[in-house]
Formats: sequence, structure tokens, C-alpha cells
Amino acid sequence: MTSQQSKAYFSARLVPWYRHVKRDLPWRRTRDPYHIWISEIMLQQTRVEAVIPYFLRFTERFPTIDALADAPEEDVLKLWEGLGYYSRARNLQAAAREVRDEHGGIVPSTKEAVSALKGVGPYTAGAILSIAYNVPEPAVDGNVMRVLSRYFALEDDIAKPATRVKIEKLAKELIPDGAAGDFNQGLMELGATVCTPRSPKCLVCPVMEHCAARIAGREEELPIKTKAKKPRLEPRAVALVEGEGAQAGKLLIRQRPQEGLLARMWELPHVPVERAPGAEPDAPAEMDALARELASGDGVAVWPSGWWLNTEHVFSHIRWELAVYRCRPDARLRPEALPPHYRWIGPEDVDAYAFPNVFVRLLQRYWGRGGAS
Ligand code: ADE
Repeated sequence: MTSQQSKAYFSARLVPWYRHVKRDLPWRRTRDPYHIWISEIMLQQTRVEAVIPYFLRFTERFPTIDALADAPEEDVLKLWEGLGYYSRARNLQAAAREVRDEHGGIVPSTKEAVSALKGVGPYTAGAILSIAYNVPEPAVDGNVMRVLSRYFALEDDIAKPATRVKIEKLAKELIPDGAAGDFNQGLMELGATVCTPRSPKCLVCPVMEHCAARIAGREEELPIKTKAKKPRLEPRAVALVEGEGAQAGKLLIRQRPQEGLLARMWELPHVPVERAPGAEPDAPAEMDALARELASGDGVAVWPSGWWLNTEHVFSHIRWELAVYRCRPDARLRPEALPPHYRWIGPEDVDAYAFPNVFVRLLQRYWGRGGAS
């Protein structure tokens, strides 16, 4: 079989297979380019099952580009709470504003214009163009690279940007006339349900007959992928500051800076500490550092009184190892003396603030059992 025949076979088999087996997913019931765009942003680094409820809530609350563009950022972050990678939500809203202001509220249908939107990389551009507008552009993510690396037995390292470019070129050649959306979704579906990273289900694969990796018995060896660096360890001490007097039953939270990691989200105050990897926290030393840093950094005076629990939060490039300490507020921490990015909140206020997951869990745990004691 020539390489041309093998390509033609792949394209001819994939689309009918996809139309037959495709899962019924909420974003497959719409042709609204805005809703398809939201789904593709949410689906980056996130499983389909996790995305479904978020997608439904988000499109209900922000059914149109204008609704999203006009909303306060806190509302957008709140609906994204728990999905992670919050810059996706901020970029999506910034891009919705660009579409409202510069494209008359219509998601652009050319590669140049859609790729210029904030947060829209080559994968998302290809997905929006092909699924919403049936434009023959490839949408190559990790799943698609795996499928094509196996089918064509490509030895290139898929962690390298040059490999993605090569596979995008190949994927573009494979798109059948008039079926770009179903072809690209077929590739995603094959990667998600059949051509899985481990134990691929070759017996039910629509293109197994001419899959070069399968023929060579190498389907579990491909693709080649060099390991990503391990996330950097960041030990931190967290202050669980329990209100007294008029603030009884409340906890002290603060808003993160305007820029950077988890920008503008809310959290329990915390500071970096020295702690050997895997070591138990040295509570007295960490409580000291916590009180000192909060006082000097934010002008917030607290008295740590004891260790509560350890937890962790893993980002793509950082791992926070958190030791949480119960603290009493210093008498100087009167409401009128609180820095503007600090608040006292009770359980009834949690819904008004967007927190990274780890803090949602801590707050639930704290209030779920009526306090830390
Ligand atoms: N992963 C990325 N995009 C997807 C889509 N449209 N459907 C299912 N899984 C996906």
C-alpha cells in the first residue's frame, strides 16, 4: 500500500465511523461558534466528563458573546472555579470583548482573525474553524498527535514544537472535502475512546487494518514523548485566621495580585517557607515565618496558634505543599485597618468570591464541620 493509499483509507474510514459512534455531548448539539469556542477552551487539559457541567452552566449564564463581554470578571471566574488554568477564562472574556468590539459580535471564520483572539492557539483556531464553519483547518492536540504518530509510525518526539508543525501539515492533507468538522472530531474521538495512551483498543479501531504501529506491534511504544519537567516544589505556610468578636465565625481571605499565577483570585493568606522535600513541617519555625511575612508583606498581624492540616495543590509547573496553621487576629487587625485586598468572610459569602480548588476544599472542610477544632 502506498502512502497515498494509506492516507485515503484513513480519511475515508474515519468520518463514517465518527458519525456512527460519536458521543452525545452538549457542544455537539449546537453549531453556535461561540458555544463551540467555549467548549474547546474548557476541554484544553480537562476531561470531557469534568467539562460538561461547567459548559452547561457557563452557556446558560453567558448565552451570547455580549453577555460574556459585559459580565464582571469575578462572575466569569466564579463559574470557572474548579476547572483550573484560570487564565483561560480571563483570555476568553478578553477575546469576547474583542469579538464584540471589532467583529460585530460574530466569531471570525478566517484563520488569521480567529488566531488573533486572546487565548486562541493553533489547536483552538482549527477546532473552531472546522467544527463551527467546516473550514478545512487541522486541530492537532496531544490526542491527535498520538493517533497519527501511531497510524503512520512516526518516530518524532511529540514534545517538540517542530513535530506538531509536521503533524499539522499531515492532518491538513487528510481532511476530506466538505467534512472538516467531523473529520477533526473523529480524530479527537478516536484518541479519546480507542487509541488511548495505554492499552489502545485496536480491535475496535476503524483504521486498524493499515495502522503502521499496530502492524509492527509497536502501538504501545508510540508516540515518542520526552518527559516534561517535574513541577517545582513550593512549600508554603497558610494562615487560617479565625475571626473574633464581631468577626466570630469568619475567616480572613485575600485577593491575589492583578498579574501572574491565579491573578485576582481569592485565597487564605500564605507565605513561602523553607522545607525539605517530603519533610514534615517544622511548625514553630513556620508559624514564626508566617506571622513575620504577613506582617512585613501585607501589614497583617496574626498570632499562629497551632498546626491544622497539610494539603497540596499541583499546577502544571509548580506544586504547592501547604501546611495550614490556625491563627488569631491581632487586636490591630480592626476592620477599618484591613488592607483593601483582605476580607473577612463567613460561609454565606463563599459564593461571591472565586477561589482556586485547594482553598474551596479547605473552606468546605472548615465550615463543613463547624470549625477547625
Ligand atoms: N476534546 C477537545 N475537543 C473536543 C470535542 N469537541 N469533543 C470531545 N472531546 C474534545
